[in-house]
Amino acid sequence: MATRNAAHAIPVSPRSLYLAAVSTSDLDFNVDLTLSTEASAMAAQAAISPSDSDALWWRNAVIYQVYIRSFADGDGDGTGDLAGVRARLPYLRELGVDAIWFTPWYASPLADGGYDVSDYRQIHPAFGDLDDAEALITEALALGIRTIIDVVPNHVSSEHPWFQAALAAAPGSPERKRFWFHPGTGPGGDEMPNHWISNFQGDTWTRTTQPDGTPGEWYLHLFTPEQPDLNWEHPDVRREHEDILRFWFDRGVAGIRIDSAALLVKDSALPEVPENPRPGEHPNTDRNELHDIYRSWRRLADSYPGSRVLVGEIWLPDTQRFAMYLRQNELHTAFNFDFMARRWDAGALRESIDATLAAHAPVHAPATWVLSNHDVTRPVTRYGREDSSFAFATKRFGTPTDLALGTRRARAAALLTAALPGTLYIYQGDELGLPEVETLPREVLQDPMYFRSNGVDPGRDGCRVPLPWSGSASPFGFSESSAVAPWLPQPASWAALTVEAQERDPSSMLWLYRNALRIRAALPDIADSELAWLESRSGVLAFSRGDEFVNVTNLSGEHVPLPPHAAILLSSSPLEDGWLPPDSTAWLRTQR
Ligand code: NOJ
Repeated sequence: MATRNAAHAIPVSPRSLYLAAVSTSDLDFNVDLTLSTEASAMAAQAAISPSDSDALWWRNAVIYQVYIRSFADGDGDGTGDLAGVRARLPYLRELGVDAIWFTPWYASPLADGGYDVSDYRQIHPAFGDLDDAEALITEALALGIRTIIDVVPNHVSSEHPWFQAALAAAPGSPERKRFWFHPGTGPGGDEMPNHWISNFQGDTWTRTTQPDGTPGEWYLHLFTPEQPDLNWEHPDVRREHEDILRFWFDRGVAGIRIDSAALLVKDSALPEVPENPRPGEHPNTDRNELHDIYRSWRRLADSYPGSRVLVGEIWLPDTQRFAMYLRQNELHTAFNFDFMARRWDAGALRESIDATLAAHAPVHAPATWVLSNHDVTRPVTRYGREDSSFAFATKRFGTPTDLALGTRRARAAALLTAALPGTLYIYQGDELGLPEVETLPREVLQDPMYFRSNGVDPGRDGCRVPLPWSGSASPFGFSESSAVAPWLPQPASWAALTVEAQERDPSSMLWLYRNALRIRAALPDIADSELAWLESRSGVLAFSRGDEFVNVTNLSGEHVPLPPHAAILLSSSPLEDGWLPPDSTAWLRTQR
């Protein structure tokens, strides 16, 4: 039995070094004070900027997602912008990220938070302009941080010039052929062409009005009517997107996140969705023809020096179909939503980790680990619920949550995911442990998912509330001045969660993330080696990465002893008598 050992999270910032008190009397586990020195050496090493010439940087990168409207407001209008991000680049460097993925920053009416693009070659005026974007890309790279941007190829804004031209043109015109315009069925063409269901609930067809005021053709939109779907059989559509990729690669972006990547191609006969479509033959999802598009995008990306990476947003339950997008001449990586959607349960998470690694191995692509993004309930809230899994269909107002429990689990999950092989994604604010804001007044909600469900689905605004940086009252440093309110109101309780407050607290979520990323960057095992499961008690996820590193995550509900180790590198909650408490992760160095 171990003697008392107060080892716990060891902040290893070069700026503020806080050495954990570690007992040398823990003979069973052989923990000694060298871990503090070791942790600081790692910190110093990891503080060096990554080299821009590393062509494989994306295989184990830490990628931070910036939802630009809510990150930092540089011009004081209550909306985040590029100036705000530029001012906060040192924060991201200090956090230790390798790249930033920006959600769409283009000209847009913001009917779907910017996923309704009206001009891909212009920045939304509320966010800045092209010069700001170029300066940001350059400044970030100078700090060793690459830029990934979002491209939305499935649809454009209904205000995009192509769609406006299509509306103004006659049925059957070349302008309409870039979209899915179609006559209705039934008497007077009053019935929509088919009954596909929108990803945002409701119908996927909207009827146009002709110049004389009579009803005209219908057009397809898998999301909102403000997001008409493009026809990927049309050569203009393919050409235009390759041109957009070049436009941004020429400006130095290191990668493209591809929105709704499995939806672009449709069966042009527009049949109803069969009960059991054969793989690759669903009328609007994961069609075989998609792979040809991505092969040509890969050729384009590979024609640039260094690595320009293609990251797919692909929600597919079939892991083999998912992995097909990651073949060597297609996308580099894709988001692993299966893991994110699992409940906080050792068996469920282990099953997902195994299935993920098994699916990626044959195509030699790195897995990605994602705890949340701008579409899903924040982990601190999700993991505090009785049902801690995630599904869009089951989101409801008023679901009880235990935030203390959720925070504890989110801390454990942060270390678990950072220890897994592959790329790590962090959604802005998760490093502060922000909860989902479930108390937003209904009149401020903006998300079409809320409106299209007639107010049943709370929507995604709750995970998009502007970040708290400093101070004791809203806007918490998000905007310099408090004269203008942030575009979504921040809860008063976020005073305790500001960056400023967390920097002062060595046990904060922010320090946990900073320390984890520094250790991760400094340990070659985490970059290169395979995962091997270790024998452990039921409810415990214990695995090694290489010869020197072990991760232990305890989901068992009871304290558990740690396997033999030379040092504790980091733990998500304080050990008790050398034992790991429930809902906690410890990182161990196993060899001297
Ligand atoms: C996925 C994006 O993440 C989401 O925010 C957006 O609403 C849909 N695609 C439609 O573009």
